[in-house]
Amino acid sequence: MPFTIAIDGPAASGKGTIARAMARHFGFSHLDTGLLYRAVGALGGDPIVAARGLQPADLERDDLRSAEAGQAASRVAAIPEVRAALVDFQRRFARSEPGAVLDGRDIGTVICPEAEVKLYVTASDQVRAGRRALELGADVAQILTELRERDARDAARDVAPMRPADDAIMLDTSDLTIEQALTQAIAHAERVR
Ligand code: C5P
Repeated sequence: MPFTIAIDGPAASGKGTIARAMARHFGFSHLDTGLLYRAVGALGGDPIVAARGLQPADLERDDLRSAEAGQAASRVAAIPEVRAALVDFQRRFARSEPGAVLDGRDIGTVICPEAEVKLYVTASDQVRAGRRALELGADVAQILTELRERDARDAARDVAPMRPADDAIMLDTSDLTIEQALTQAIAHAERVR
């Protein structure tokens, strides 16, 4: 039976770093589901058509990491038909052998409610903006505004809003190094496995 690790949380919480490292640790496949929405937003045109026709190569575009791509992703991610078009791919990925790590906003609640391990990774707004500003070489205040706007939209939408699953383990990384956060996340998954 494949083993699924679902990791959700707001932008720049550290969930992507933790997801990648956990996948490496356990020898599992990893899917950054934010890339799907970023690609749909970046493709332009009708987002529903873009989501239904999404190709693996679309996830390799160079322009997906920018703040603008994040905002565009968050707008198309509120469209129910866009989300519906991406469900099967994510669920199939979640059943990869011997296991899979998926990170996003609705993995523990909607995509993989049966996941063996569910983590909800958070950090304070200031810490998240500081990390993202460092990564993108951008202004902290501007990034902070952008993150808050995106989180508010992701948490308020009607379909699959960003929220922890009832059975998710909360991991606040504000005062943790990457190594400390990872040690806690892996220890939890090892207990379940
Ligand atoms: O994680 P990342 O910042 O790349 O996600 C970009 C946007 O994609 C998020 O702000 C959110 O609107 C959307 N998203 C989502 N559901 C997911 C992953 C991402 O709605 N599972």
